Amino acid sequence: MPAPGPRPLATVLLVDDQAMIGEAVRRMLADDDRIVLHVRLEGAAALETARRVRPTVILQDLVMPDADGLDLLEAYRADEALADVPVVVLSAREEPATKAEAFARGASDYLVKLPDPVELKARLHHHTAGFVAERERRSAFVELEAMAGEVREKNRRLDEANRRLAEMNADLADDVREGQARLDAIAATGAELAAIQDLDLLLERILGDAGRFARAAAGAILVRDGDTLALEYRLDEGIARHERRHDPLPIALEGVAGRAALTGEVVHLAANGDPQPGRVGGHLIEGFVDSSFGCVLAQPLRTATGEVLGVLLLADAAEGFPEEDRRLLAHFASLATVALERASLVRSMILRMIGMAELRDPTETGAHVQRVAGYSIAIFTEWARRHGMPSAETERQRDRLRIAAMLHDVGKVGIPDAILKKPGRLDEAEYAEMQTHTRIGADLFTGLRTDFDEAAREVALRHHERWDGDGYPGAGDPPRGLGGESIPLFARIVGLADVFDALSSKRSYKESWPESKVLEVVREESGRHFDPELVEILLDRIDDLRAVRNRFV
Ligand code: C2E
Ligand code: SIN
Ligand code: SIN
Ligand code: FE
Ligand code: FE
Repeated sequence: MPAPGPRPLATVLLVDDQAMIGEAVRRMLADDDRIVLHVRLEGAAALETARRVRPTVILQDLVMPDADGLDLLEAYRADEALADVPVVVLSAREEPATKAEAFARGASDYLVKLPDPVELKARLHHHTAGFVAERERRSAFVELEAMAGEVREKNRRLDEANRRLAEMNADLADDVREGQARLDAIAATGAELAAIQDLDLLLERILGDAGRFARAAAGAILVRDGDTLALEYRLDEGIARHERRHDPLPIALEGVAGRAALTGEVVHLAANGDPQPGRVGGHLIEGFVDSSFGCVLAQPLRTATGEVLGVLLLADAAEGFPEEDRRLLAHFASLATVALERASLVRSMILRMIGMAELRDPTETGAHVQRVAGYSIAIFTEWARRHGMPSAETERQRDRLRIAAMLHDVGKVGIPDAILKKPGRLDEAEYAEMQTHTRIGADLFTGLRTDFDEAAREVALRHHERWDGDGYPGAGDPPRGLGGESIPLFARIVGLADVFDALSSKRSYKESWPESKVLEVVREESGRHFDPELVEILLDRIDDLRAVRNRFV
């Protein structure tokens, strides 16, 4: 578990007509600087005060001259702003019937006047912590949905920029003076680019197509990071490649890319007949110190808000960079810009999601997420070995699986705490609502179009499908479980890792089980809940799983 942060501040509203009680409670709480107390003597004004004070707990008297405390409980529950605020009844009455009625009408807790100060403070903090955690989780969920919406909007703009490019290309293609190489370059762009999900692949293609189109001998995409530029993609003899090793280059006016990054304007230096290695017209060409070029074009990758994310650099075009070409290259640059923006948004969304997956339940923190990811990787690595998957491919898939596994339950942020943290068994309606976490999670990933999102979506949606077809959410109308190999491999792996961890761990609704009992269930469920091949792998590699468990306790 992470170190507990400072206690959230408890804002308490006491509604009690007896001024003496207000005074007594104020004294009891006086030595606790994490509690702020408001007192209201008039029951009739309680609702209005609560809306204004925004308490984390309400302490409510039952018998008041101007209002019925039980009616007030219902009024809080019916109020949009107050419905989830815990209400602790503070009453002189001790009869069980009164208590039962108070709970039936919406009370969260019941204390008999005057309570012990230690108990009162403990309850106020306990209810505050639960309330604040749920409120945070909810606002995080709203924020996530907004981010997912933004990513989808970026995708729409990528499609749009791409469509304009295809149109311009088509116009140019009509021009019979254009040579075959240009026609090839033109044919290569278009709808294809929009379908590419992987950022590296996309930027490689944009650079390659732009370079071929301009018939440039060399080129690069440099990505900005603070005060530096890193050469991330290089164009060499018509082939664009992701550059693995890149030293950051300082952004300076002396360099063509630096100048474009600093001014946000295109830098175009035409041939001057005096090529100097690594320079054109006295300007440094970042990343090309040994090459000699006659002309160069640096096109900033500038967002709609004016931020420069990087630079598209092209050098030594066969016929320079005529006006018409420069206009088209600006479109290639806008494609690259949107792709970069989208990627950085997705990256921050993933980090936020992983944080949220830990936020959803204080009793079962980041360690669960880490263990499920660790078990999944261990199982997949052995599966890949048995199936002869090439190691580079295994490596790439492990990265996708790790993120997908960490986010398998991210949809639980959309489930109310009352269900999520229920100490006992869920009833049928509650379990049905709990099951929607699969779809809620999947919806967050739908349409993001990145390299990992399809894996993350499948895992979120399908990790509770069963090999025998009895799982959820299934498909069709009425839905039936997928079953067997129709369940994506990653979802089968994470599903097994998740249950292995749920059984091995303590939950709000169950104790932890010894490993022998866990493995007994896993064996029994081979061919029923679980893919038999994966069960075999799990048993075979149990030492790897133990190592993961010991690392993330
Ligand atoms: P979870 O706690 O992460 O459990 C994941 C899966 O592990 C469960 O999926 C189930 O397949 C398996 N599992 C967990 N505990 C047991 C157990 O005691 N016996 C057996 N045989 N299998 C177990 P499932 O059932 O689809 O539940 C999904 C999620 O719903 C659970 O995630 C948990 O958050 C919640 N949940 C399920 N049942 C209850 C319950 O009775 N009370 C509460 N409070 N939550 C529950
Ligand atoms: C208080 O703030 O202590 C009194 C309640 C109110 O704000 O009216
Ligand atoms: C869905 O049920 O949302 C799509 C079906 C699938 O991913 O298999
Ligand atoms: Fe789940
Ligand atoms: Fe889980």
